[in-house]
Amino acid sequence: MYKEYRSKARQIISKMTLKEKIGQLNQITITPYSNDMDKLKQLIKNGDIGSLILASSATAGNDPQGHVNIDVYNELQKIAVEKSRLGIPMIFGRDVIHGHRTVYPLPLASAAAFNDKLLEKCYRNIAVEALADGIRWTFSPMLDLCRDPRWGRIVEGPGEDPYVGASMARACIRGFQGDNISDPDSIVACAKHYIGYGAAEGGKDYFHSEIGDATLYNYFVPAFRAAVNEGIATVMSSFNDISGTPVTGSRKYLTDILREQLGFEGFVVSDWGAVAQLQHMGLAQSKKECAQIALNAGVDLDMCDYCYIDNLESLVEEGKVSVDTIDLAVERILCVKLAMGLFEHPYGDKKEYNKLEHLNDARELAGESMVLLKNNGVLPLNKNSKIALAGPFMKERRSLLGTWTLDGLEEETTSFYEAIVEALTYGEVFCQEMSGLFDNSVYIASKADVIVLALGESHLTTGERNSVSDISLSKSQIELINKMHTLGKKVVGVFFCGRPLALEEVEGKLDAILYAWHCGSETAHAACDILFGDTVPSGKTTVTFPRKPTHIPLYYNTTSSGQPVNGYYGENPEMNYTDSLATPLYPFGYGLSYTTFEYSDLTIDKQSLSLNALKQGEKIIVSINVSNTGNFDAKETVQLYIKDKFASLLRPLRELKAYKKVFINRNDTVKVDFELSYDDLGFYNEKGEYTVESGEFEIYVGENCLTKNKTNVNLL
Ligand code: BGC
Repeated sequence: MYKEYRSKARQIISKMTLKEKIGQLNQITITPYSNDMDKLKQLIKNGDIGSLILASSATAGNDPQGHVNIDVYNELQKIAVEKSRLGIPMIFGRDVIHGHRTVYPLPLASAAAFNDKLLEKCYRNIAVEALADGIRWTFSPMLDLCRDPRWGRIVEGPGEDPYVGASMARACIRGFQGDNISDPDSIVACAKHYIGYGAAEGGKDYFHSEIGDATLYNYFVPAFRAAVNEGIATVMSSFNDISGTPVTGSRKYLTDILREQLGFEGFVVSDWGAVAQLQHMGLAQSKKECAQIALNAGVDLDMCDYCYIDNLESLVEEGKVSVDTIDLAVERILCVKLAMGLFEHPYGDKKEYNKLEHLNDARELAGESMVLLKNNGVLPLNKNSKIALAGPFMKERRSLLGTWTLDGLEEETTSFYEAIVEALTYGEVFCQEMSGLFDNSVYIASKADVIVLALGESHLTTGERNSVSDISLSKSQIELINKMHTLGKKVVGVFFCGRPLALEEVEGKLDAILYAWHCGSETAHAACDILFGDTVPSGKTTVTFPRKPTHIPLYYNTTSSGQPVNGYYGENPEMNYTDSLATPLYPFGYGLSYTTFEYSDLTIDKQSLSLNALKQGEKIIVSINVSNTGNFDAKETVQLYIKDKFASLLRPLRELKAYKKVFINRNDTVKVDFELSYDDLGFYNEKGEYTVESGEFEIYVGENCLTKNKTNVNLL
């Protein structure tokens, strides 16, 4: 991919001193120099800085950050380009995760939209906005598969499924990087956190993960493999260790797997301070040893801990790091800088963009991301209704934007209350005021036709370093639901959340549940679009909703124990736990519409096929008819799962292998076709070798992972 840039990079390297080379491997933040810009300018002039991260702290996802300032970046870049000996431009990075000025749904939410085209479009908008502020590199997409919703960062990733992770990787990268990172509207993306970070034990951030190699290849690697195939230019090494091996110090993960097996050609940046962390973990005795281990493992750029800049020269002198290894890391970084056209266009360009269009796209994506979990007929609401509105999130703004919102503004975010007022025609909204001892919720409810509760969790319980031990709804919100339930009116719960909560306790007391997530700038408008029927809900969960917090981990693509206890799929579920029902409250792929869909005529074009023919490229075509039998024109995400019945490695009870989101007019039927190929029917062994084994495969096509529509194919 970088072939054409290698010789140019080598030419530059041939002119560099060792110190200048090491400077290219050094990323720092401006913050410590904010009051001493002269010092920073001197470092840049000396060629000591390859990249600047535009954030003031490691946990930028939750700490308020300073504003971006393109003029300052251009001024600093001018020094790199015009005053440093070789004029190598710096690359400016910032965590533009799920939006910049316009904030889109967090990845766990937008995955539920199952709309890759729309996602790509929105990520393109993000790139355009970031560029206008001088940002050329983002630390996104986050591709960590996660089965534990206690983990605060589950909201930053695709959920529990590798196929969804891979699709998301492709869509986000296409959005950020376009066809080519040299396009004037492209920014460089970064697939993170490589790898296994989402498997943190107990959902505790940064914690140890225990992942066998076959599990790694089949569950955790696929999204990164897709990212590499899509041309991701950078990858971030993760903080965690896997079974005692810290990833940031591991040649196995960073070089053998990432580069040799997956074929990654860009550069690897460490997570913030992850190189120095090797000392705290007990792998290295000093920061110097950290630098030695990380560089030799395959970390090219050192984020913010000065391990490389302070130690690589003496490590070379001592023969512990070779100049060739340094040259290779510099070459990778220069290749990306050359490929993105940074040498020709080093400066940020304050381009205008159409903010309104971006907000419209954000509203559309938010509308498709929200998941209707329950509806006993109360939704959609009439715009002339009298609505009693209560709950802690009715006037909240910041949480709706979600964690990792660095540049979206709370004050520009519409609250749920305001959006309801905007949406109503002749209706009225009565608000519960709950300050001090004054709680008028019962009174306002008595005046209303329907009660809407704005529930959920703060963005501060999500994101980096913000895990929770209990994914239940807070006690006060449960009390509120209980109280409203007794009033004999219909009660609608709208949940603004960054993870699936365990809702069994309240589910029966709500007539409708709309899971609105933290969906960014347009969360409130999009939720109202659904509540009042302007948008027909179409989101489907990419993570299982357990009944109880104690049922974690609960995920759909588990294997069979061989005992009659496959609780997820309802086989003797009472045998999993003697004290509670272990089926999910809402399974993977689940989500309701205002219309109804009927699936019929599942067909397959062949009952059997030789493995060889499959390998040579022959496809299996699976088709199904989907009819819209209700009263709304609507979108449906049709999902295809396989189960490889017998294999040398236990295969999941269901594995998502394809989906299509289709629009179907009411009373219409659409035939949906899927193609299965060699790449869909196999798995990786513990060495990372792909294999497809002969035998029977069950194929399920339907509305979620519990679908019963089944056909078979035999591989001979
Ligand atoms: C986070 C990354 C982030 C980086 C830079 C780290 O603490 O884990 O996700 O990209 O900081 O802000």
